[in-house]
Amino acid sequence: MSFNALRELQNNNKYKAGDLLVIFGELFDRGYTNGLINAAKKKGMKIVTGTVGRRDENGLLRPLNSEELAEKSEDVINIPLEAGFDIEPGPKGSSAVDMLAGTKMSQWQEARLDWDEVNAAQNKAVENFKKRVNDFLQELESKYINEDTNVLFAHTMAGGFPRAKIIMTVANRVFKGSGDRFLSSEVFWNSELGQLCQKNFQEVTGETYKHLLDLSKPLRNKIKENGQHVSYVAYGYHGTEILINDQLTWQSYAPYLQGWAKVRLEEISNQAHDEGISSCVFNAPEILTNSSSIFLGVEVPLYKLMPAIAMFKSSEAYDKICKKCNSLLKDDVDIEVVLNKLNDYFNNNTTKRLLDFSSAWPQHNDSNQMKLMRELSTEIIDMHKDKKQLMTAELSQIVYNSCGLAMLDESWEPQHGTTWIGHDLVAKLS
Ligand SMILES: NC(=O)c1ccc[n+]([C@@H]2O[C@H](COP(=O)([O-])OP(=O)(O)OC[C@H]3O[C@@H](n4cnc5c(N)ncnc54)[C@H](O)[C@@H]3O)[C@@H](O)[C@H]2O)c1
Repeated sequence: MSFNALRELQNNNKYKAGDLLVIFGELFDRGYTNGLINAAKKKGMKIVTGTVGRRDENGLLRPLNSEELAEKSEDVINIPLEAGFDIEPGPKGSSAVDMLAGTKMSQWQEARLDWDEVNAAQNKAVENFKKRVNDFLQELESKYINEDTNVLFAHTMAGGFPRAKIIMTVANRVFKGSGDRFLSSEVFWNSELGQLCQKNFQEVTGETYKHLLDLSKPLRNKIKENGQHVSYVAYGYHGTEILINDQLTWQSYAPYLQGWAKVRLEEISNQAHDEGISSCVFNAPEILTNSSSIFLGVEVPLYKLMPAIAMFKSSEAYDKICKKCNSLLKDDVDIEVVLNKLNDYFNNNTTKRLLDFSSAWPQHNDSNQMKLMRELSTEIIDMHKDKKQLMTAELSQIVYNSCGLAMLDESWEPQHGTTWIGHDLVAKLS
């Protein structure tokens, strides 16, 4: 695995007003996609998004209703793009989630699934997903693509926790448990519940990108025959370079159980890039969004963006963000206190193993690391005047906007199939 960091913009992209940004996924407040949309709008590009869809009272996948559509700020192609197979019934009639119904916490390690049934359900769900993607692409072509349209597809899909109550209960302990409530992510990952998660994550977070690349090939060829350009980007995560002891240093959150699926996403993009398709997975920094809030403590490195702004942007920009963050903290706390605590955290021996890019990734949790990360996360959140107005919101916005600028620019002719955006580039573009 080679580490290719994006250090500056190429400034060679030829997107023009009227070109199209297609969000392959649903747009949510606070989500990463907002940054790419902001960057594309600055160029006058048109935006169209997908939707994951919703489940009706009988559990059937449905498009958004008029109320839900009215809440959306951009055009939506209203064909549900939910991926995964957790609630898809197999030939004998039960889904993986059905098979786990009633499993008690005391028995979770003994839970067993009928894998033939699960695999058959998976195949059916994939075929259904591909049909819906084809419908999505048809509507896209007929409504949004003209002879002179350059198109950028952005894959944002990640997720796929099987919706079984027992999985959510166990996962809560894996991601949030410390002390007596600590649960090893490795033990979970090797259990049948963990294996189900692996398969569903792989489908939602990884394989959906392959389906997009494969199924849009005829459209891609048509656009190219018109002399226009098609690119694909996807959001990855594989650790981030942040400033530790004044050095840009790679570090990663553990236990990032979606990481194996993100590695698959990278493989898919690398292969497409090798075949000459403009495709790039951008491994992006940790921020707080609707989807990442389950990974408690994932926001800890985000505070480190402040010193990066001082080093890579300007002292004025640093003063500005410090002033903003200080205004959110209680009167007797200063941002320097937070930054000192982060230095201690990243220099602690327990954290050291999360700073080694060359070791196997993703890494599992251990009880000391979880305790340290959890306590620091809670301590910093408790320093705020109002827990609904957090520094992480300010900092996340800077990150997603900078990433949007970087991704739009780099997408035209990506240098690599996978690249990393660290706090250095985020700060420079802020
Ligand atoms: N938040 C972070 O710290 C972080 C860091 C690096 C990369 N990313 C990546 O950025 C992307 C956007 O995530 P975000 O954190 O902005 O959150 P978000 O909630 O805004 O986006 C999550 C996306 O996943 C889609 N999705 C969820 N479940 C799905 C399913 N079963 N089938 C199909 N689509 C599904 C949603 O429609 C949405 O588009 C994701 O790929 C995520 O892994 C996030």
